[in-house]
Amino acid sequence: MPGIDAERLLSDLDTLRTIGAQGRGVVRPAFSAKDMEARRWLAEKFADAGLEATIDGVGNVYGRSRKAGKALLVGSHSDTQPTGGWLDGALGVVYALEVVRALGEDPATARLAVDAISFQDEESRFLGCLGSRSFVGTLSPEQEAGAVDSEGTTLAEALERAGLAGRPRLRADPSRQAGFLEAHIEQGPHLEDEAKQIGVVTTIVGLRNLRIVFRGQQNHAGTTMMARRRDAAAALFDFAAAVNREFPRVAAARSVWTMGRVRVVPNAPSIVPGYVELDLQFRDADEAVLDRLEALAARLVVEANARGTVAVTLERSRAPIAATRMNEVLRKHLAIAAQRHAPERWVEMPSGAFHDAGVVSARLPAAMLFIPSVGGISHDFAEDSRREDIVLGCRVLADAAASILGSDPKLSTGV
Ligand code: GLV
Ligand code: MN
Ligand code: MN
Repeated sequence: MPGIDAERLLSDLDTLRTIGAQGRGVVRPAFSAKDMEARRWLAEKFADAGLEATIDGVGNVYGRSRKAGKALLVGSHSDTQPTGGWLDGALGVVYALEVVRALGEDPATARLAVDAISFQDEESRFLGCLGSRSFVGTLSPEQEAGAVDSEGTTLAEALERAGLAGRPRLRADPSRQAGFLEAHIEQGPHLEDEAKQIGVVTTIVGLRNLRIVFRGQQNHAGTTMMARRRDAAAALFDFAAAVNREFPRVAAARSVWTMGRVRVVPNAPSIVPGYVELDLQFRDADEAVLDRLEALAARLVVEANARGTVAVTLERSRAPIAATRMNEVLRKHLAIAAQRHAPERWVEMPSGAFHDAGVVSARLPAAMLFIPSVGGISHDFAEDSRREDIVLGCRVLADAAASILGSDPKLSTGV
């Protein structure tokens, strides 16, 4: 059983946290100067750990093992939300680094090949899971050409500024990589509420984003009588209320929906708004439930149009993410390692957040491990996990990686 170095692991996480630190949180959106600094730092750490390190043409940092035989790919992402926490993504990337070192230092596991990766733009500045989509070959030229951030910067401009334009892009290679393991903070309250220390993920939710646009007539807020108004924001508020009233009728127990982005034009107190955009996102582990929610949103748009004063349109914005099941064999290895290190303090659970592992599972067997999030808070500067849980999670991951590669034939992934 490989022994991880807890002090080294925590010290590397603390160092990564300083790159883009703001208060207790981190601001390191994909391709920003801080994101690229973190990627160069990671590439150096991968190289110091004996890996052949590269940053590819979309910004994925890859550390390729020099050892012979099938490799296990381990990692996550190191970009953050616009105001992100210090562990979302970073945890899994630094775990990967520590797993490489720990297996390499133990004579019993030193021959095993572990590749480490930090995917680019998991957090959707341009396109959620951009780096892993590119890695598995599902990033279409149309998606890439249409990828623009909320400030209007195109992906092509961001690649140019980051010095990545024209660099080769890495591709998953099932003849080399036996599978992918991603560790992550839970980002929800379940582990903490149930006093568990490890979650072994069963499924990752699917997600759809709709953009709903309301077009009315901009006008004077003092002189335009209520009956004459074509107020795009009023139509938005009615629509949002209808979503919250109607969605529970077709949703499943764990379905969630969010109206997290609104653009009101011109967004001034004395102007009746003439144009509003709303992003409606919903998630569930069952594609049939997502289909039902999408059909309902379309019906609510028809009803909003029927009111007649404001024209309402709906389109899918950004590429949907499909719900995915994690690989049973890799899950079994994680479960055995979890039971060894945290007897009866681990649980199988679905993921409500999406993750690169879901995208990667299209090409490689993939599985995920969670550690608890303090207070269930994430995508916020307050995001945190107990140091004891951070160390335990890495022990479980290192042990599972060794058992997958060291190969009990009964548990071989068969690829
Ligand atoms: C990923 O960060 C998500 O929003 O689930
Ligand atoms: Mn994440
Ligand atoms: Mn995230």
